[in-house]
Amino acid sequence: MKVLVVGNGGREHALSWKLLQSEKVTKVFCIPGNGGTATMPKCQNLAMSVDDFDGIVRFALVQGVAFVVVGPELPLALGITDALQAQDIAVFGPTQAGAQIESSKAWAKALMQEAGVPTARSAAFDRTQVEDAKAYVKAVGAPVVVKADGLAAGKGVTVARTLEEALSAIDGIARGQFGDAGNTLVVEEFLSGQEVSVLALTDGETIVPLLPAQDHKPIGEGDTGPNTGGMGVYAPTPVLSPEQVKQVQREILEPTIAALRQRGIDYCGVLYAGLMVTPEGEVKVLEFNCRFGDPETQAVLPLLETPLYELMLACVEKRLGQLPAIEWKKGAAVCVVMASGGYPGSYEKGKLVEGILEAEETGALVFHAGTQLKQQQLVTSGGRVLGVTAVGEDFEDAIAKSYAAVEKIEFENCYYRRDIGYRIR
Ligand code: AMP
Ligand code: GLY
Repeated sequence: MKVLVVGNGGREHALSWKLLQSEKVTKVFCIPGNGGTATMPKCQNLAMSVDDFDGIVRFALVQGVAFVVVGPELPLALGITDALQAQDIAVFGPTQAGAQIESSKAWAKALMQEAGVPTARSAAFDRTQVEDAKAYVKAVGAPVVVKADGLAAGKGVTVARTLEEALSAIDGIARGQFGDAGNTLVVEEFLSGQEVSVLALTDGETIVPLLPAQDHKPIGEGDTGPNTGGMGVYAPTPVLSPEQVKQVQREILEPTIAALRQRGIDYCGVLYAGLMVTPEGEVKVLEFNCRFGDPETQAVLPLLETPLYELMLACVEKRLGQLPAIEWKKGAAVCVVMASGGYPGSYEKGKLVEGILEAEETGALVFHAGTQLKQQQLVTSGGRVLGVTAVGEDFEDAIAKSYAAVEKIEFENCYYRRDIGYRIR
């Protein structure tokens, strides 16, 4: 069987690697892929854009792929699944209607309210209601959270510590700082606690959570400085016990899938719940994503014992409920992200990357994100360059192993955090 993976990040490298562990998968095509998928046996990159739906549909038809896996949110929000399904191509990833759970925060909030899912109190305002939004913020006071409704590459959220910050965030959105993503804005109660990501597989009826993970979003050690796409991650985080994961399944994931069904949305793929575990032990939804997390995938998949291919096929064939429980390796996984110096601000590209084989010889997995193969040489091509994952007996072991592998890798101006996993040590 051939599978087509759409995307070019560390997440897509990890997905392709895991799919190829199943003997039934003979080939994975990556559109457009990266330096890691270019050099992995049985994997082939295709220089196509993730929003070239006609091209992707044609390629999938010609190759007769078993199904398409869509990594990033943007093509999902633009309707890639609808385009593929229109030609009877199976897709692991929700339709445009389903992807609204990520592409519109106001839509997701309304769905959560309908489903009775615990989440922060909030109110939505459109561009004509800026003064109402400001009055609301003044009434609830700081700290408070202001969000652009649409996709804003992770930059549309301001956690305002003061009223002034909140009001200026509203002005920014109203002035068009995030373009159409700010046509609506959401003001939300501030929640404190620890953030946990629960990625769950669903065929639209049954929903099965994967191991809970925690990522480190800020660039600096001690979780300081500006937010990034994620500088490191570990799983299974003890912050959410197995009993609490079951509770999340019953009280958050299942009601959400039921509410989607009520809206006529047959949701197949990953429902990713970004959760806050409050100091009182309550679990509330901060946001939903319509896809696998990056870098969460790079820590969760290495622990997965059940073939990913079987799970995804069961999702697209609507028989996830008939599969036995997912099996996991014992122990823990830690992924350390190696980035280009300067990220998340500006940084240089095209730096030669060395030492990957030496890192892999330690037993670690090196997932590529911003890398490219140029004249048979591996060079940097993005902010987050590599995700180095190690599986260990416990977190101490996994942390030591992943950093031992990281130290084998070099590129000019390389930056990584040295404290991944500090919160649970
Ligand atoms: P979102 O894209 O909605 O997940 O927001 C991005 C980040 O902002 C989250 O990962 C949190 O760190 C933070 N955040 C979002 N909503 C809240 C909230 N209600 N209370 C506290 N922090 C939040
Ligand atoms: N790691 C956060 C995300 O994938 O959205």
